[in-house]
Amino acid sequence: MPRKFVEVEWDAATSRIICKLPLTQPTGRVRVKRKGQPIAVRQEPISDEDVLEWQIAYRDDEGNPTELGIMLQLAQKHTLLTPTDLTQLLAFIEAQSEFCDEKFAVIDEPTPKEFCGFKVWWRKHPLLRYEVRNEAVIEIEVRHRQRAVGFQSMVFLFVPVRFCEPSDLVGRRAMRNEVAKWSPSSEVIKALVRAFVIASRRHKDDMEKLLRKQLATNVNAQEFAK
Ligand code: ADE
Repeated sequence: MPRKFVEVEWDAATSRIICKLPLTQPTGRVRVKRKGQPIAVRQEPISDEDVLEWQIAYRDDEGNPTELGIMLQLAQKHTLLTPTDLTQLLAFIEAQSEFCDEKFAVIDEPTPKEFCGFKVWWRKHPLLRYEVRNEAVIEIEVRHRQRAVGFQSMVFLFVPVRFCEPSDLVGRRAMRNEVAKWSPSSEVIKALVRAFVIASRRHKDDMEKLLRKQLATNVNAQEFAK
């Protein structure tokens, strides 16, 4: 079953983009993790070390913007991202010609150890990490492609639960179907675009299309609003 996209909307009262991150759907796009391991937040109280891992998307199968795609639209509409920001992002996109899935490989390494007659190996995955101030971390993980040869890059956004609302989340269990609200800064949005751009050639092309289309449509929308 396709995983539900995270709702991303504009909150006029606080002039912020709000992402509604589900806390209790471990098979969805968002999971709560502690020291790299998923935790069951309906059973265990959330701690201030816990992070939300979000496999963030930018469009659905039909090509309509979702998640990061909606963030970009809202950021442009409400001038969280200036025309200069968008032009700089486009320049970054155009200049990029090297990609994580082509440059880095998964490596299998033998060790001298054995377990019950089996040799112990380690499989190492490249992980590219970018810290956006202290508010979020972006990871690009290179993996073997499923049902195909070569590698693929997966982009994950990590958000500390302590930066989410409601503010009493830390110290208690999550309620059924509870959702945490989080507001991305323009720095996070720009860094996510750059992450997809360097992740793979296909994501770079998608980002370029998305930004160009958005720049073209939004100019018309602004004209229309005059
Ligand atoms: N395609 C859409 N979202 C993705 C993500 N987070 N990582 C890799 N590929 C994607």
